[in-house]
Amino acid sequence: MTRYPSLSYYALSSYLLFTSCGALASTRLEPRLDNGLAITPPMGWNSYNHYSCSPNESIIQSNAKALVDFGLDTLGYRYVTTDCGWTVPYRLPNGSLTWNETLFPSGFPALGQYIHDLGLLFGVYQDAGIKTCGGPPDQVGSLFHEQQDAETFAAWKADALKYDNCYSDAAAGYPDADYTPSTSPSFRYANMTKALASVDRKILFQICDWGVDFPALWAPSLGNTWRISNDIIPAWRTIFRILNQAVPQTSFAGPGHWPDLDMLEVGNNVFTIPEEQTHFSLWAILKSPLTIGAALNDTLTTIRDASLQILKQKDVISYNQDPLGVSASLKRRWTEEGFEVWSGPISGGKTVAALINWADESRNLTLDLPVVGLQHAQTLRNIWDESAATNVRTSYTANVAAHGTMLVELAGTTEAGKYPADIFATSDGHSTTFENIYAETTSSQYQLTIAFAPGSSHSSEITIRTSLGGFKTSAKVQPTESQISVNISLSAGSSNTITISPSPIISYINVTSPSGTYYPCTSFTPVGSAKPETCDAGFCLPVGSKIGYISPTGNASITIPATVVSGSGDNTTAATTTAGKYLEIDYINNDIAFSTSWTTGSNSRNLTISVNGGPPTRIEVPLSGKHSELFGPGRGWWDSATFGVLVDGWRNGENTVVIGNQGGDEGVQPYGADFVGLRLYD
Ligand SMILES: *[C@@H]1O[C@H](CO)[C@@H](O)[C@H](O)[C@H]1NC(C)=O
Ligand SMILES: *[C@@H]1O[C@H](CO)[C@@H](O)[C@H](O)[C@H]1NC(C)=O
Ligand SMILES: *[C@@H]1O[C@H](CO)[C@@H](O)[C@H](O)[C@H]1NC(C)=O
Ligand SMILES: *[C@@H]1O[C@H](CO)[C@@H](O)[C@H](O)[C@H]1NC(C)=O
Ligand SMILES: *[C@@H]1O[C@H](CO)[C@@H](O)[C@H](O)[C@H]1NC(C)=O
Ligand SMILES: *[C@@H]1O[C@H](CO)[C@@H](O)[C@H](O)[C@H]1NC(C)=O
Repeated sequence: MTRYPSLSYYALSSYLLFTSCGALASTRLEPRLDNGLAITPPMGWNSYNHYSCSPNESIIQSNAKALVDFGLDTLGYRYVTTDCGWTVPYRLPNGSLTWNETLFPSGFPALGQYIHDLGLLFGVYQDAGIKTCGGPPDQVGSLFHEQQDAETFAAWKADALKYDNCYSDAAAGYPDADYTPSTSPSFRYANMTKALASVDRKILFQICDWGVDFPALWAPSLGNTWRISNDIIPAWRTIFRILNQAVPQTSFAGPGHWPDLDMLEVGNNVFTIPEEQTHFSLWAILKSPLTIGAALNDTLTTIRDASLQILKQKDVISYNQDPLGVSASLKRRWTEEGFEVWSGPISGGKTVAALINWADESRNLTLDLPVVGLQHAQTLRNIWDESAATNVRTSYTANVAAHGTMLVELAGTTEAGKYPADIFATSDGHSTTFENIYAETTSSQYQLTIAFAPGSSHSSEITIRTSLGGFKTSAKVQPTESQISVNISLSAGSSNTITISPSPIISYINVTSPSGTYYPCTSFTPVGSAKPETCDAGFCLPVGSKIGYISPTGNASITIPATVVSGSGDNTTAATTTAGKYLEIDYINNDIAFSTSWTTGSNSRNLTISVNGGPPTRIEVPLSGKHSELFGPGRGWWDSATFGVLVDGWRNGENTVVIGNQGGDEGVQPYGADFVGLRLYD
């Protein structure tokens, strides 16, 4: 019984049909897939982020020793990998790789022995090109030497191979970095997969092609981890860029194959402590390998204690190493408000959620539990705040430092929409009031279901009021009915109340969102630069087409009905504020930051939504592409995703909605995303 989903195996087999290595039987690779490694994301240390391509023996030894001295090994950090800079510009006369004897006087086998003697694992680095990254001087790569090099690594007792992608594109004359090769990198990686599978040693295979050719679709069948993006850089903006690239890939994580968000900058003194907490939290819950990239200890440097404590945070490590192996995903981003929420399941029926404060100042921010699919938690642990709460109903508010993250673990939870009376209701004998009722939109179309306590008797007519504009309705109930449903009005937010009178004995209520109305881009009028485009069948879902080139001088507009809810019945007052309505925008963005990753590349694009000529609400969407940007259908520009946003400015009757990129020329993000359609939750 294989530990791996059979899907992986079949993905590999069919993949191999298209490789040039016709002699390779797919059964040959089967053991490689079941190499038993990386059942949880690998953890360790790598020389690159601090030492660049200038490692040496004492550096590796003192950092390996520090992993043990600081107790990091017992927390799971065990792979010690020497990155670029270790080898030389030539091979030995017999064709084998060798190390730089000045930098590694004892040699690589001895380095491996030193690392193994510490109880750690020995990681090596090579490149799927004719030279490795880094230098001068030029150092030989493994392209066309995969078999011999895999045998050498096995002979040296290596436990892991990080495999880079420089100088690899034959058709372009082997440039240092080529982000648009004419053939897929997968073929070169497959050759090393095959070579590693043939040696008598289990070697963790870490694919590092910088995210070129959407490796999530092929790397899991070839390696244990794959880099999703170009390199992390020592600048805070790098976190947003990498997370935007992770968004469409989170579903590809699983035992034996993990998306690699790149090595950690924690401890390199380039981020503040809250920034390091954000970085570490998100890498952990997205199931990235946790590879320390700091100088833990050498003759010049010792990691600062606050950073070390982040790397040692046991709860965060446990989320990364959780046996469920399910990655957190982006739940919602509030672009203008400067925060966003990610979450995912962990074992024991628990949920981990992270709210990132992108703002430059500390703020009290609120996590609405329904955003992560929950209504109530018996217990909440705020990890970085080292605090806890019990009986958390609908929302949890805490202070979050500038660029920091509220990381919470929720247990004993109730699913979103369900409000047990014993938790949410109070009764004064005449009426029962439920508090902390959540609504993502302002609408008269919420469905309230009241579930009466089993065996209870209830009055033949009950009255329901909500906190929105004195909304009131009544319903007749047959004594035999165990539940009734009515439509009610709620306003966007988490502090609605629902009062039911007289006071029947209620077990729980359920509040269901309106289903909304969908407006495909084909119903919009493109203006200026905006251009409609038809996609192949099965793409640009759910519409089959999109409007591109949305810019400061081109938009898509439509006139649609909406209802401004103002309550009803004896207690009616007119709505005093313009009602916020929730929209789900289906968008497409596959503008991947490769060469711009060193500077301003963010992997995001803008859209603005303006209602009735009011001020635009800006959203900055992450990548949506789930196919290769080079060879995939529509080059990944046919894969849509959904972004939810609350927009003001509606009025009763007809409303003009403009999807544009207002202000995009003023420096925020010049390009608009493509627009597929929107759902208005009215
Ligand atoms: C080994 O590394 C040293 C120090 O970086 C460098 O000067 C030397 O050229 C390297 N040796 C070879 C053979 O590349
Ligand atoms: C090549 O030579 C080196 C140095 O003598 C030796 O350690 C290695 O095992 C040789 N490789 C092969 C494939 O014979
Ligand atoms: C390794 O680098 C450290 C720090 O730069 C230096 O002190 C040490 O002498 C170097 N060791 C070797 C073998 O080059
Ligand atoms: C893979 O290896 C085979 C020889 O084993 C070689 O013919 C082929 O060119 C290699 N493919 C790539 C993309 O390097
Ligand atoms: C750090 O390294 C220095 C020498 O480079 C050594 O004296 C010291 O014991 C090390 N500290 C720890 C905690 O490993
Ligand atoms: C944040 O909340 C705390 C505790 O509830 C409160 O003392 C503080 O004034 C709030 N800060 C801001 C900026 O609202």
